[in-house]
Amino acid sequence: MPKLGCYKAEAPSNIALVKYWGKHGEQLPTNTSISFTLNECKTKTEVHLLEKIEADDQFHFEVYFNNYLKPDFKPKIKTFLKRIEIYAPFLKSFKFEIRTQNTFPHSSGIASSASGMAALAKCILQMEQNIFVDLQEDFLVQKASFLARLGSGSASRSTNGGLVVWGEHSSIENSSNFYGIDYPYEVHDNFKSFCDTILLVDQGKKEVSSSVGHNLMHNHPFASQRFKQADDNIEKIKAIFESGDLMSFINLIEFEALSLHAMMMTSQPYFLLMQPNTLEIINAIWAFRKETQTPVGFTLDAGANVHLLYPKSSESKVLDLIEQKLKYFCQNQSFIKDYVKI
Ligand code: PMV
Repeated sequence: MPKLGCYKAEAPSNIALVKYWGKHGEQLPTNTSISFTLNECKTKTEVHLLEKIEADDQFHFEVYFNNYLKPDFKPKIKTFLKRIEIYAPFLKSFKFEIRTQNTFPHSSGIASSASGMAALAKCILQMEQNIFVDLQEDFLVQKASFLARLGSGSASRSTNGGLVVWGEHSSIENSSNFYGIDYPYEVHDNFKSFCDTILLVDQGKKEVSSSVGHNLMHNHPFASQRFKQADDNIEKIKAIFESGDLMSFINLIEFEALSLHAMMMTSQPYFLLMQPNTLEIINAIWAFRKETQTPVGFTLDAGANVHLLYPKSSESKVLDLIEQKLKYFCQNQSFIKDYVKI
């Protein structure tokens, strides 16, 4: 049994370049995805294990976010705990409190499920380490991602940093549907100091959750083409990482982002997460790129916010564009400056 007390971990957010959209079985992806790990946007979590007076077969826990009790966070965490119960059977022997906070602003519209589930999975793994003291480092890295995946698919790419691949692919050695792996090939220097500036178009809660969106891929008219497209894009991005071709990179990530949203718009029921200001920003980036040839592109996750990706060498030009134009399309003119380390 792990000891009573406090287990702490943190995990970063990530932004997918080739997107995961659609799942089967127990949180298994229908296509391979790859993401950059962010550095500033993180979740920090503490799990306090407390004594349970009467033994029963239930999970007893509370969740606090920024020190406020959050009963509405419990259902998703309970689903996660049920899924990982066979790997962490000791959890029902304790009462526990989960205390969590994000380094990015609350309600920024940034999905915290990846960093949140990854941080929680790492806390639970620490408890396991407390029981089995000599677990190997490789095993711990894999298991953290494996557990995190059962909380949220994209969380499997948030436990260990870097450029991460999740989902089996014939061109990526050792890739797995069960956990994320470090991208195993050489990456051109052009990608080694990338910036991600997140333009906060909408800081509210999104209308349609990712779980609903993933499920709508089951009867989607374009599902099989989309899964093939994503797998082909993995091949393409591999070649781009080798050659360092920034314009092809931009073309690919924008194509992926728009394909993801096209799936949403053509689901039944169909839905739309982009907003008018998302499109204003996209058009402004395209105009800026045409005019200046600056290598800056956008990607989107399941929401209205826009991630601008560009090499550090273009930072001052892109920040000027944001200050002069793009921030006026953001709620409260807010954006978050983050960067990628690979
Ligand atoms: O991990 P989920 O279930 O929140 O799904 C994430 C889906 C996208 O962010 C849209 C794409 C991705 O690969 O991260």
